[in-house]
Amino acid sequence: MVWDYYDGKVLFVTGGSGFIGTALLWRLLSQSSPERVKAEEKWSSMLPASTAKILTESQLLTVLDGELGDTATMDLPEETLQMLKRTVHIVIHAACSVQLQNSLRELAYSVMAPSLCLTNYALKFPNLERFVFFSTAYANAHLWQTSNSSDVRVDESIYPLGTESEDYYQSALDSWREVQKTGSSDEYDAHDFPWPYAYAKHLAERLVLQKASERGKLDKVLIIRPSVIGPADKHPYPGYATLKGTPSTAVAAAYMLHPGRRITLSSRCEKPGQEATIDEVPVDVVVDRALVHVAVGTSGCVHAVSGEQGRLSVDEWWRAFKKERRIPWNVKLAWTSEDWHSPNLHQIARRFKIIGTSFAFSEEKTVQVAEKLGGRKEDLMLFADRSLLYSLHLRRHHIHHMAVQHAKTNKWPAFYAKMFCRKGKPVTHLGSNVKA
Ligand SMILES: NC(=O)c1ccc[n+]([C@@H]2O[C@H](COP(=O)([O-])OP(=O)(O)OC[C@H]3O[C@@H](n4cnc5c(N)ncnc54)[C@H](OP(=O)(O)O)[C@@H]3O)[C@@H](O)[C@H]2O)c1
Repeated sequence: MVWDYYDGKVLFVTGGSGFIGTALLWRLLSQSSPERVKAEEKWSSMLPASTAKILTESQLLTVLDGELGDTATMDLPEETLQMLKRTVHIVIHAACSVQLQNSLRELAYSVMAPSLCLTNYALKFPNLERFVFFSTAYANAHLWQTSNSSDVRVDESIYPLGTESEDYYQSALDSWREVQKTGSSDEYDAHDFPWPYAYAKHLAERLVLQKASERGKLDKVLIIRPSVIGPADKHPYPGYATLKGTPSTAVAAAYMLHPGRRITLSSRCEKPGQEATIDEVPVDVVVDRALVHVAVGTSGCVHAVSGEQGRLSVDEWWRAFKKERRIPWNVKLAWTSEDWHSPNLHQIARRFKIIGTSFAFSEEKTVQVAEKLGGRKEDLMLFADRSLLYSLHLRRHHIHHMAVQHAKTNKWPAFYAKMFCRKGKPVTHLGSNVKA
């Protein structure tokens, strides 16, 4: 049913060789028969042969090697641009990495300008049915600082940064001009976002919607907001992940090498171990949510998250972490109520900031779609399966690899990573019956 929608459609996917893009293309090409999918390449080196084959040998897929920036041409020849314009029905914009360290000035070029240019361009396609923009659930993480709750609810809507009644389309244009001119904006300065990246996505969401509204095409725009993406539960195979795609693998690698007995984190929760949460969502749930909402015609913002039922407490995550650390001397989490920017926190907490918070991301739109689909859900992965004990076992190889990199960057002795981390095999070498 859902897959039938894609039969005969022409899709243009940006970021097709990335973590989400690869999983999304694999899912599409193994489930439906779109007329053509146009994307990028990198798969043979990062995927097992049988998975890569579906992508590299597909007659339905054309790889375009483009570069998104502040023009709509994407470094593609005019002929290709005209062909895209003539033929494409669905645009999925997933090109952009998670860039927590970058300044707003850098993000203006890597997040906001490309999204705006692509939106402008795609909205002119005569056959356009859907435009999908990948944002992040943490585009609204500033709400942690404006709320007193220890579990902040975030709805699938836009939270204006000015007054409740402001025209957030107009304010997006004003702020975008400010960012281009000064590298910041009044609304950004007035809110405590964990990273400029969160605000960049907040502003990009509004700019995309502003353009769509201007052209009377708001109904065609879908904004997907994933939380912290984790390895796949099932598709393309259990444990599928890229080295840098899963943020909590990087967190585990950095904690692994911690030489002391205490890792200092910040939280305002009374019992942080139990109350602070991590919303990690398998990449195949993100992909299926996106593809289903495209097919049923949902517009506006949709969370691709584990949600209240599927998120983890910090204690649950910590138990899984301790099983992976090779020298289990009694390293403990030490909580402080200091600000999330405090220099006294563990360096990884200073980088990720949201460790120690808790967000209850609404997933109302997916609940409604799942109810409507009823028995026609086929093998769709719309919700994270938390029936099994959470484990980092399948990431052992990536954690070890990242720990080695981390040690090198910090000029620590090479034996450090070996001493603290178990050396796992890549998931694809573990056999076909592994469970994520
Ligand atoms: N991973 C997460 O935990 C997470 C969580 C929330 C939201 N998201 C969002 O989901 C989207 C995809 O993330 P991901 O994890 O799949 O990222 P990823 O693995 O880093 O992939 C990014 C893809 O975008 C391409 N790309 C980057 N800059 C480009 C440019 N200027 N022009 C053309 N292509 C470009 C990359 O190609 P090259 O490798 O060739 O540069 C790569 O194919 C992003 O919008 C991200 O913000 C991710």
